[in-house]
Amino acid sequence: MSAARNAATTCLTAPAPAAATAATAATAATAAIATATGPAAVAPAASRAAAPAEVGSPLPVLGDDVRVPLAGGGTAPYAALDYAASAPALRAVWDDVAAYAPYYGSVHRGTGHLSQLSTELFETARATVAEFLGARDGDQVVFTRSTTDSLNLLAAALPADTRVFVFETEHHAALLPWRRAGGGVQHLATPASPERAVAVLDAALAAHRRQRPHAPALVCVTGASNVTGELWPVRELVEAAHRHGARLVLDAAQLAPHRAVSLRELGADWVALSGHKLYAPFGAGVLAGRADWLDAAEPYLAGGGATATVRRGTAEDHPDADQVGDLAVRWHRGPARHEAGSPNVIGAYALASACRALAAAGLEELTRREEALLRRLRAGLAAVPEVRVLSLFGDDAPRVGVLSFTVRGWDSRRLAVALSERYGIGVRDGLFCAHPLVGALLGDQPGEPAPCAVPDSGGAETALRAVRVSFGAGTPVEHVDRLVRAVAELVREGDPAAAAPGC
Ligand SMILES: Cc1ncc(COP(=O)(O)O)c(C=O)c1O
Repeated sequence: MSAARNAATTCLTAPAPAAATAATAATAATAAIATATGPAAVAPAASRAAAPAEVGSPLPVLGDDVRVPLAGGGTAPYAALDYAASAPALRAVWDDVAAYAPYYGSVHRGTGHLSQLSTELFETARATVAEFLGARDGDQVVFTRSTTDSLNLLAAALPADTRVFVFETEHHAALLPWRRAGGGVQHLATPASPERAVAVLDAALAAHRRQRPHAPALVCVTGASNVTGELWPVRELVEAAHRHGARLVLDAAQLAPHRAVSLRELGADWVALSGHKLYAPFGAGVLAGRADWLDAAEPYLAGGGATATVRRGTAEDHPDADQVGDLAVRWHRGPARHEAGSPNVIGAYALASACRALAAAGLEELTRREEALLRRLRAGLAAVPEVRVLSLFGDDAPRVGVLSFTVRGWDSRRLAVALSERYGIGVRDGLFCAHPLVGALLGDQPGEPAPCAVPDSGGAETALRAVRVSFGAGTPVEHVDRLVRAVAELVREGDPAAAAPGC
């Protein structure tokens, strides 16, 4: 206990060094709560995560005991197979948040004990996330709302004249934020293989370099597709980018929940991810990576917390100041520059808790388990000839636990609804906010796609629609088996609406 108290004292008086390891940060965070709570301190999430609550599921999630109503009466245990949209919360994350919640206080402001504690935990969370993402010396971790927010932040921080290169296959969050890039956006054609992706990028960047040798360039690429689950050749794409003096931001929204992501090892310049896909659904996301463009940019949001000083006067009287009306404003450098307003402390705390739990469980172990589930799912669906699994890079491409398919004879929306109403299975259907990719995979059949994620979009999205199954750490084998059985049964029965007149 005295060691914990010592750690807590250190924790409360001096910020954790940026290079602190995840373990150190976790210990410091736990110790800080221990100080506030006394001897009945919570156990660190990492150690709880190691104790399996269910065979084959090293990281229990919330909701694994929820039952949902079925259309024909009765209930079924909910099979959450929509992790790619939002993963359930890890039990360890929930417990950590519950233990911290009574001690929650404002950060970076108050002198009260709980404000000091929360400030320390918030900055410790930053160090934990930095460690989880293999941040290099000098890299920044900025807390945002989500991957979408992170990529929009980077888009707002591009140096003038930057040209952005992005495959048309990207999720809209990675495809669209660059529309105001000074040097324009270049959409790269859908590649048929990882090698082709590297070659296409290489050629595009070489041409750009010849035409505008000194203009900055940024590549935005996903690590794992939210439609096919296929892994993109991130390391090779980073090398291609750097060969031509470009930088690369990795959209790790789907990669980070399934594979270790290290800025240091991949060489990527930035990485963006969302807490709610990483088992921490408390509204926080991250942009981590190089500081220079971020420090040179206008603050993403203007307001308290981003400002070092605000004085009456002109910028001439105050070096480094911006003129805002009759005020001279000096902005912070570092993460605070882009985190104006009261930060989402619990979100950041939850995200760091998830990072600790995933690191403790071992992403390699989770990958092995997930690959076994994926093999089972693919083999089960392969036995139903009407099912067509969508793939860009082919059957042998490495992939995470995300798989989209269509079923001959069934409308995808109706199939997804039937899976829910009759089997208690939650999947997603539609275009998955990646309209050009799904269009390419489905052969761009005619049909006016409805707006992404609009709940009543079912009627307007016609042929361009698929069903997506996605899973992760908390998924039991039974969920995958139930899905396969349900699809086979529904295929045997046929889509009742397809036979109706007028359809
Ligand atoms: C690959 C990919 N990138 C970005 C996003 C956007 O994430 P968020 O909605 O959390 O901002 C998603 C969400 O599904 C995604 O799958």
